[in-house]
Amino acid sequence: MSGACRPSARPERPPAALPQVDDVSSNYIASGNEIEVFERAFSGKLPLLIKGPTGCGKTRFVEHMAERLGVPMWTVSCNEDTSASDLVGRYILRGTETPWIDGPLTQAVRKGGICYLDEIVEARQEAIVILNSLADHRRTLFVDKTAETLHAPEHFMLVASYNPGYQSTLRDLKESVKQRFVAIHFDYPAPEIEARIVATESGCGLDFAAALTRFGVRARELVGNGLFEGVSTRMLIYAARLVGTGKPARELLEAALIDPITDDPNVRATLRGLLSLVESRA
Ligand SMILES: Nc1ncnc2c1ncn2[C@@H]1O[C@H](COP(=O)(O)OP(=O)(O)OP(=O)(O)O)[C@@H](O)[C@H]1O
Ligand SMILES: [Mg+2]
Repeated sequence: MSGACRPSARPERPPAALPQVDDVSSNYIASGNEIEVFERAFSGKLPLLIKGPTGCGKTRFVEHMAERLGVPMWTVSCNEDTSASDLVGRYILRGTETPWIDGPLTQAVRKGGICYLDEIVEARQEAIVILNSLADHRRTLFVDKTAETLHAPEHFMLVASYNPGYQSTLRDLKESVKQRFVAIHFDYPAPEIEARIVATESGCGLDFAAALTRFGVRARELVGNGLFEGVSTRMLIYAARLVGTGKPARELLEAALIDPITDDPNVRATLRGLLSLVESRA
């Protein structure tokens, strides 16, 4: 199997009445109305597409929503080898037998829950096409190898994500696929929210988290001027974890905030200059 598939160990209980929307939970800090949009899509049986740069919280959000709605979740990390069989299933050779093994999409359709296709745009066209009947009013999955037509249960939801920054026009989704989804555009959280996320996720103090966020905001201004993509929330969390308590050493900050994203001497010099925003903490 080419796609990484991870059925979660979440309890398989049907969702209760949808809880009140709040903006904070133990493990996800909302930026806007994304929780409400997700819940409306879930109860309206609509598939959801989440677009946004790497490390801005897409996966964390979907995991949070699965937990919040009390449904299991299957994640597939799509790549250019991800085929229809990787999603739907295949016959495998086991001794003298060849049993049919459901893929993650089929499991989610049979049992109910969220099937999350990460970087969907990377998957092969034949894999994306099988989603069509599932993503529209039919909500059916045709398993051609077993000649079954499966009807998605009420609590099934298809969620996909991709990073628009990585896509060339050759790797875009077809209109007929896009128009079957409701979409949410994710971006880096607003500074005060991002600082809370960095502090919560790393355990660092809010002051240091705010300083890291200020660096992130300034560094993101270099996108298109030497940087391909902005410094992610994930990178800021890593920096906080690497530094730990105490005075932030410049080598540690560079290892977390500069070395992973650029080798360009000019961009590195500019980013090094911005590190003073972080070093002043201590
Ligand atoms: N709103 C948030 N609440 C809590 N943690 C967050 C939030 N946003 C981001 N994070 C943190 O940032 C990290 C990166 O988030 P996540 O893995 O969800 O990014 P992503 O958008 O899925 O990235 P990729 O496109 O690379 O898969 C997570 O491990 C989490 O700690
Ligand atoms: Mg992700």
